[in-house]
Amino acid sequence: MPKVKITELEQQLDPLKLPRHIAIIMDGNGRWAKSKHLPRISGHAMGAKRVSEIVTAASDLDIKSLSLYAFSTENWSRPQPEVSFLMSLLVKYLKKELKNLIRKDVKMVVSGHIEVLPAAAKNVINQNIETSKNHQGMVFNLCLNYGGRQEITDACLELAKQVKAGKLNVDEIDEHRVGQHLYHPALGDVDLMIRTSGEERISNFLLWQLAYSELYFTSVMWPDFTKIDLLEAILAYQKRERRFGGI
Ligand code: FPP
Repeated sequence: MPKVKITELEQQLDPLKLPRHIAIIMDGNGRWAKSKHLPRISGHAMGAKRVSEIVTAASDLDIKSLSLYAFSTENWSRPQPEVSFLMSLLVKYLKKELKNLIRKDVKMVVSGHIEVLPAAAKNVINQNIETSKNHQGMVFNLCLNYGGRQEITDACLELAKQVKAGKLNVDEIDEHRVGQHLYHPALGDVDLMIRTSGEERISNFLLWQLAYSELYFTSVMWPDFTKIDLLEAILAYQKRERRFGGI
């Protein structure tokens, strides 16, 4: 990777205006592979390498939270061999990534219904979560079998249970309380949402947390997305004026 370009971009960054929480929809693995006459799974394999690179880059940049959309509740509808490949890639990636999490003091958390994932995936996920739970650096939120509507529904269900059990009054439910019942409230709102591959959609990702997020769409395919692209996205974010509904 051209170090000069990275240094040049890093020098332009305003350390006081870094996005606290970055969320990425990693899209374009299949098209990247097709453009190189490779099978779709090669795109996913290269995509997994980028995950590792971007986790390191974000942590080095002192980003507080990074959410990556690795598998949506809708991705089950893909051909079974592709789903199986993604699951085995996940296991391979997580086993390898643990060393990096330790070295970089990154805490890994997961958003989504992982209970239905294959046992091998659940085991390594839980091992990484457990090993990194006291880490003090960036929080890496891996979204797996995740859906934004499901997350909000789960928060509502939890609040409904508390009301039913007499532990909460209905009139005590407000935005703050709903937000506190999301999967990982400490991640906070997303400041910058990046989607690769030229698609301009939210696709059921972090719907609650994206309410006031800056959206950045790039035509770069995920397997080509490097630290340089991340820096360019952050620089574009820093040029925007965030008004949060004010003037
Ligand atoms: C979209 O590409 C990407 C995904 C289905 C999920 C992201 C998966 C990875 C980055 C690889 C593995 C991840 C980890 C954490 C090991 P696509 O197949 O939808 O691309 P296309 O739209 O070009 O077909």
